[in-house]
Amino acid sequence: MTRLAGRRAVVTGAARGIGYAIARRFTDEGAAVALVDVDRNRAGAALAGAPAVVADLADPAQARAAVDEAADRLGGVDILVNNAGILLMAPLLEITPDDWDRAFAVNVRSMLCTIQAAVPYMLKTGGGKIVNMASMGGKVGSPGQAHYASSKAAVIELTRVAAMELGPLGITVNCICPGYVLTEMGAATRTPEMVTGWTAKSPLGRLASPGDVAAMALFLASPDGDYCTGQAMNVTGGMIMH
Ligand SMILES: NC(=O)c1ccc[n+]([C@@H]2O[C@H](COP(=O)([O-])OP(=O)(O)OC[C@H]3O[C@@H](n4cnc5c(N)ncnc54)[C@H](O)[C@@H]3O)[C@@H](O)[C@H]2O)c1
Repeated sequence: MTRLAGRRAVVTGAARGIGYAIARRFTDEGAAVALVDVDRNRAGAALAGAPAVVADLADPAQARAAVDEAADRLGGVDILVNNAGILLMAPLLEITPDDWDRAFAVNVRSMLCTIQAAVPYMLKTGGGKIVNMASMGGKVGSPGQAHYASSKAAVIELTRVAAMELGPLGITVNCICPGYVLTEMGAATRTPEMVTGWTAKSPLGRLASPGDVAAMALFLASPDGDYCTGQAMNVTGGMIMH
């Protein structure tokens, strides 16, 4: 339980769901974790003892300031997990430019900003680990999510180019492509038929838990993942295999 002993980690979107599971798992493994989220009430109460930083990561200035505040409270940054994201659903012909821009601002531009802010802290100790949350949808989208899926495809390519540029500086950059994870995201419109249909796509016969995704984040953020960079790791229960 000490795979991240002495590490200082910033996890975005950590007030609930997958981000919370990552923050808790990292804490269990000995890391000092700062939670960044737009949800002031839940971020503050999510993890006892962990600093909570409130920010709307769609705003570049807030995204950068959130990393600076987290670094200040942790005494540095060794690990950055860019997990915050929003799911938008609309038929292709009804997606507005504002919806499109919102998906990209929250889901991918925020990552550019937090990476730019976090790298100087990582360089103080000679390197670091960056884990971005993409999606199965970034490889194989579904009808009704053109803006979401496109933003997640952009996360995958941001990850690859960042890995090329930051590898020589001692920083690995990877992303995770979860399949269908049972969280509050999408819960409002989730039907039993949808759950049955998605479950049937997995050879393992079940949907993902947040803990399944947190386990991959731990691997990539720990020394076990030292020789992995630029990868888009599927945690889909085999729903997709490339
Ligand atoms: N749930 C799934 O099936 C699934 C599948 C693939 C990928 N993902 C991705 O995993 C990540 C986490 O998803 P989840 O299921 O835990 O979602 P969730 O909605 O339960 O949690 C997302 C968190 O991000 C925060 N957030 C949203 N917008 C923000 C902003 N502008 N600034 C700061 N914080 C913000 C929310 O307040 C929330 O705490 C997302 O990037 C999502 O796209 C989820």
